[in-house]
Amino acid sequence: MADVEAALDAAGLSNPKVREYVAYYAELTGAERVEVVTAADDARLIQEALDAGELEPAGEGRYYSRSYHKDTARSEERTIVSTSNEADKGVYNNWRPSSEMKPLLHDRMRGASAGKTMYVVPYLMSPPGNDLAPWAAGVELTDTRTVVLHMIRMARVGVDYLNDLEDPDLFVRAVHVTGDLENLGQGTPDDQRYFVTVADERTILHFGSSYGGNALLGKIAHGLRQAAYDGWASKKFLGEQYMLIGIHDKETGKDYHICGGFPSASGKTNLAMMLAPDTLGDRYHVSFYGDDIAWLWVGQDGRLYGMNPEYGVFGVAKDTNENTNPTALRSVAPGTGTIFTNVAYNPATQEVWWEGRTPEPPADTTGWLDWKGDPIADRSPEQAGEPWAHPNSRFTTTLDNVPNIAQDYDEPAGVPIDAIIFGGRTRDREPLIRAITDLAEGVYDGLTLGAEATFAAEGVDGQLRYDPMSNRPFMAYSEGDYARHYLDVVGAASEQPIFAHVNWFQRDPEDGHFLWPGYRDNLRPLLWLLQLKNGEVEGRRTAVGILPKEEELNLEGMDVPAEDLERILTIDKARWQQEMGFREEHLKQFANLPDEIWEAHRRVAADLDAE
Ligand code: GDP
Ligand code: PGA
Ligand code: MN
Ligand code: MN
Repeated sequence: MADVEAALDAAGLSNPKVREYVAYYAELTGAERVEVVTAADDARLIQEALDAGELEPAGEGRYYSRSYHKDTARSEERTIVSTSNEADKGVYNNWRPSSEMKPLLHDRMRGASAGKTMYVVPYLMSPPGNDLAPWAAGVELTDTRTVVLHMIRMARVGVDYLNDLEDPDLFVRAVHVTGDLENLGQGTPDDQRYFVTVADERTILHFGSSYGGNALLGKIAHGLRQAAYDGWASKKFLGEQYMLIGIHDKETGKDYHICGGFPSASGKTNLAMMLAPDTLGDRYHVSFYGDDIAWLWVGQDGRLYGMNPEYGVFGVAKDTNENTNPTALRSVAPGTGTIFTNVAYNPATQEVWWEGRTPEPPADTTGWLDWKGDPIADRSPEQAGEPWAHPNSRFTTTLDNVPNIAQDYDEPAGVPIDAIIFGGRTRDREPLIRAITDLAEGVYDGLTLGAEATFAAEGVDGQLRYDPMSNRPFMAYSEGDYARHYLDVVGAASEQPIFAHVNWFQRDPEDGHFLWPGYRDNLRPLLWLLQLKNGEVEGRRTAVGILPKEEELNLEGMDVPAEDLERILTIDKARWQQEMGFREEHLKQFANLPDEIWEAHRRVAADLDAE
């Protein structure tokens, strides 16, 4: 049995409530050793992971890891929010009573870490001193060393965050037990995995995966699900799957901040890392605050503020290259301590590769292994078309490595929010951008965000589904209550943000090419949005929002074919009318939806019919 007291003493972890919690789960899981880690332990843990074969060198202070081949994405099916109040049941949160789920998870975890080390990872999901810091402290317990190494990159990790709490009991208890990955029946009727957030007890119990999206509990479970619940319960804030960027206009000296929700694998990280297009770079600079999570609240001065609770980037590798995202390549350059997961790897040369890294894979396949570890050179002709890297392969690096990181990203104040955007992968109907100036209509638009499924979650790629506010996988309580809370928080701000819906993914119906080149050029519609807010352009009013007039978009240096441009700046009335019917069915599922949302829906439908 582990000597818990000695381990906690050695690390100086004095918070009595944390000590109780660690002792309880050390006993339950049967871990052989307990070890408290801080960011200062990174180099030693990296070496241990290399020695144990859990990581392999990927060139000049970078590392390669592979997750079990049936464990490569978030599992929404197996993710559950539990409370003691059935009124918290929503459409998407897979609510189950905590009286049922807690004992079930404890049974799964009992003895399941026998022979292993239980790492104690004390963390803070916010810049220190932020208004929301009281909801940001947590302690992840995990029996997987690579999870610790990811946590050190993705969150602020240190003992003092927990020792210094005003109320020693105010921290999230986040327990991760990996289990026997080869015998969990992933994706079968006998699936043994459970990813449970017991929201009203601020306790997270995840069993059966070591993939980041299921195992980095500070990020996914605390930063999003628990934060959403806490923000509502306290009436103080919103916890959202949003990127957060700053746009600096060198000519006027003004700074703007835009946050926005796109479903996983739909462009948040790329947008946050955006380098202004060459023709606009002299005037504008985009800075990175966050790429996956933002917490929003009304500050002392009455304005709406946002901050990124994370400390790192867990980015999609696919299609990252010098043209699409040079910033990402700098962020994972030699010396950054980056961990690559499930990309292709060459142990002899320590190189990594993923689809879209270069137009063609390395011509000489000698030594190259695919993401499962199988030699590429041994592939049969039938296997020739299979990807080398998993489509959801990832890189993990810290914010300090991101070249366009905002200078004030670590400041406690957060940043005032000028605009909130929603978007997703939608091959037709959704124009490049449509702006919405009314709060209820903005919330309505977020609630009816429809997008294609992606590989970041288990499911069918390309199938259209609703993903309210891009929060479908992270909904913690009922959607009706969520809409009310969103209207209340943002509605209380003295200056209202402008909303917009964006779509970088519209395709030509014949040959399927993307009608908009995307990536760096996505700055252009965002600049138009800020100009609209400032009254510098007027746009074109439609039932579903204000669209840019073609001449209002700055397209300098681009050559988008005229017919493509026309298509992405047009509303297809018939398709939209059909969509309104689908939306009605979608919204009807939600109990207690505020009247304002239904009114917005009816207004848009009527305007559309009148057009
Ligand atoms: P996130 O998961 O929401 O952070 O999405 P990412 O920014 O990681 O992007 C997911 C995938 O979409 C990656 O393969 C990107 O290369 C691709 N992507 C991102 N932005 C664009 C864009 O503007 N146009 C196109 N065509 N693809 C994009
Ligand atoms: P993503 O983040 O949204 O960048 O894919 C990880 C996730 O949501 O699983
Ligand atoms: Mn995400
Ligand atoms: Mn991302």
